[in-house]
Amino acid sequence: MALAEGRALDRERVAAIGAREVAAYRARTPHSARLHERARQAMPLGVASSFQTYDPYPVFMTDGRGSRIWDADGNEYVDFDMAFGVLAAGHSHPVLADALQRRVANGTCYTFPVEDGILLAEEIKRRFQIDLVRFSNSGTEATMDAIRVARGFTGRDRIVKFEGSYHGHHDDVLASIQPPRELMGPVASPATVPASAGIPASRVADTIVAPFNEPNLLEAILDAYRGEIAAIIAEPVQFNIGVVPPEPGFLERLRELATAHGAVLIFDEVKTGAVLAYGGATEHFGVQPDLICLAKSIGGGIPIGAFGGRAEVMGVIEEVPKDGPGVGIEHSTLAGGATRVAHLGTFNGSPLSMLAGVVTLTQILTRDVYPHLHLLADRLTAGCQAVLDEYELPGYAINVGPKGCVMFTPARVTNYRDFIGLDGELWQAAFFFLANRGILLPPGPDDQWTLSVAHTEAEVDRHVATFREFAAELSA
Ligand SMILES: Cc1ncc(COP(=O)(O)O)c(C=O)c1O
Repeated sequence: MALAEGRALDRERVAAIGAREVAAYRARTPHSARLHERARQAMPLGVASSFQTYDPYPVFMTDGRGSRIWDADGNEYVDFDMAFGVLAAGHSHPVLADALQRRVANGTCYTFPVEDGILLAEEIKRRFQIDLVRFSNSGTEATMDAIRVARGFTGRDRIVKFEGSYHGHHDDVLASIQPPRELMGPVASPATVPASAGIPASRVADTIVAPFNEPNLLEAILDAYRGEIAAIIAEPVQFNIGVVPPEPGFLERLRELATAHGAVLIFDEVKTGAVLAYGGATEHFGVQPDLICLAKSIGGGIPIGAFGGRAEVMGVIEEVPKDGPGVGIEHSTLAGGATRVAHLGTFNGSPLSMLAGVVTLTQILTRDVYPHLHLLADRLTAGCQAVLDEYELPGYAINVGPKGCVMFTPARVTNYRDFIGLDGELWQAAFFFLANRGILLPPGPDDQWTLSVAHTEAEVDRHVATFREFAAELSA
């Protein structure tokens, strides 16, 4: 990949473009501003998830179809955010929308199992080459449950996660996501830095942090905690600090080290599963973990999560205690105490999410769509890279499968510590410049664009052309 060293940017110009575009954004979205003001009276930060807020205020959305999304002021965007990558199937794919309408008219929640749950489990087993799967409602639940299964399986408490990875918002993994430089400690033994107030110190102590793409340092860390690590959880591609792929051989080494240390290897495929390839990152990179976590894209836009893997590991959910469970009483599920792993949830396997998963995976994200998604993504990356080269901007374009971004830093990012050098001001100017011209990117440099089955070459070319306008003005 060509890396533009870039010439020195005119910082005043970057700031001026950024300020002008934020002013234009305000002028185009007054209704969103009013809605956000009202929302602030009812919800902290005026949003349902703190990820949704950004300065000066988020646009509120009203409609989405295919690759397009409309805000409350009626502005239309080509959506390249696609709900943080949920929508590889596009907004309201007609086949899914039709099926869901029939489901909504016939009950959306029974808390009794449905046949679609079997169909979806079978499809996930096939795609991801796993033995058993269980459902949840989000990626957070999937990683939380997978970690408990790993702990139950190994009888160990500690886990290893990588600096810069995000695995959802439960206490075990809400650490060292983007730690401040002054707190992150040496690269050989990164500190575990909580990403939230309110996490008990006892939880922090069980989460060991390792640098991504540093197999020798990982090995030393595992040696230091020999016999204590229940699981190593990894995003196969670090997709929460832009796009940071594994270096060649890193995932293979990770697999070997997990096996050697008796730790369960968990691939968090919440962003990669059913997006990178038919069989997710596992297929794309050819490395098989013990457990995978899925969410986002597998539901086509309906809340869902799943985790699964080897029968031996997943088996801890059903290991029956010696004296057997009670029958037909609420107690029965938990009567096993510590001899089985509890996996529970009122909405797990709901008819709505099971149908959404079946339709999305078997009728929309079928094996034949992936070559096209990859071609489109390569075209977008090549187009953006050509612009960066032409205008000698400091940065590079990168994608892994249908997900990519421009990393506004001249040096290639191989882990979180390189990512800290990203030019946030330049990213922000680009974000608002593109948004004001109908190209919507995720509202943060840590996320990336995701292409869907609904995107076209013409939309990708429009994205590149708008980015070229930005670059031209920056360099004029
Ligand atoms: C890699 C990864 N894992 C887990 C999660 C958590 O998923 P959810 O937001 O559905 O809880 C996310 C969310 O962005 C994610 O990117």
